[in-house]
Amino acid sequence: MSFRIQPTAPARPNRCQLFGPGSRPAIFEKMAKSDADVINLDLEDSVAPSDKDSARQNIIAAISDLDWGNKLLSVRINGLDTPYWYRDVVDLLEQAGERLDQIMIPKVGCASDVYAVDALVTAIETAKGRNKKISFEVIIESAAGIAHVEEIAASSPRLQAMSLGAADFAASMGMQTTGIGGTQENYYMLQDGAKHWSDPWHWAQAAIVAACRTHGVLPVDGPFGDFSDDEGFRAQARRSATLGMVGKWAIHPKQVVIANEVFTPSEAAVAEAREILAAMEEAKAKGEGATVYKGRLVDIASIKQAEVVVRQSEMIAAR
Ligand code: COA
Ligand code: MG
Repeated sequence: MSFRIQPTAPARPNRCQLFGPGSRPAIFEKMAKSDADVINLDLEDSVAPSDKDSARQNIIAAISDLDWGNKLLSVRINGLDTPYWYRDVVDLLEQAGERLDQIMIPKVGCASDVYAVDALVTAIETAKGRNKKISFEVIIESAAGIAHVEEIAASSPRLQAMSLGAADFAASMGMQTTGIGGTQENYYMLQDGAKHWSDPWHWAQAAIVAACRTHGVLPVDGPFGDFSDDEGFRAQARRSATLGMVGKWAIHPKQVVIANEVFTPSEAAVAEAREILAAMEEAKAKGEGATVYKGRLVDIASIKQAEVVVRQSEMIAAR
């Protein structure tokens, strides 16, 4: 047991991050009016190379022109392996208004990738006298990213969130699938001739959650590509929530409502958590550290588990 207290992650709802290509400004207004907690305007892989310059200008204009309400406004820049990323950072920081909250850095492979962007952002913020300090989020979507996940989680005080990017991750790992998240047909165990599907994303998610929780960063599940499959999205989101992730991306507006539902603790779950806290208060009054709630053990660790649920629910209610 470490004597160090685990840092808390930013106390803001991050149940759903809605993406939209920077080259499709017609949907920006719809994104702004959505129920997503976070908006990600994209300059990276949903924008064709020939559209990079115009997408950047679309996004810079929309940051000031549209009413983004109380949403966290983030722009996904291009990866550090491209010729575009420095111009993304320079133009955003020099030209976009103070409404911009966050920059998402994709395909991060080591802590130095974040350091490089931090150095550039810091210099421009100072030079331009920007008041708001831009925060960062990163995508773990490569073998190097997952191998170095902990140093990446510790890379910058600007870092607030980390997502798993299933498609690029699968490609980088050489996984035999073209699916973006969800159940993979060939990833099964056999028991008495019956197939039982397992979750090929599980270990990467758990590694991301552990790295994030160690360093006070929000762990987020990335895209689920088949937006026709609501139940598949819901199942993937429920697994992520169970593992400790706080939210999930939406690549289509219909996924927003499901993500919000899954990552908002249900009334029943909150009521049960409050009952556990009350049972433990009673136990404490009697000098006991453990007691029985609905036929099962609850003890001092149960207080912390129940507090996770109650805190999450109160934070969302306060939004
Ligand atoms: N945000 C807000 N609104 C969106 C939207 C988004 N990301 N994607 C589509 N819409 C709107 C459409 O404009 C349409 O609105 P309307 O009813 O007023 O006409 C409605 O939602 C239904 O859209 P639909 O016809 O089902 O989808 P589409 O064919 O227009 O677009 C995608 C489908 C997948 C191409 C589009 O959703 C998209 O670009 N998603 C984001 C991709 C992305 O950013 N990827 C990078 C991260 S992985
Ligand atoms: Mg990607």
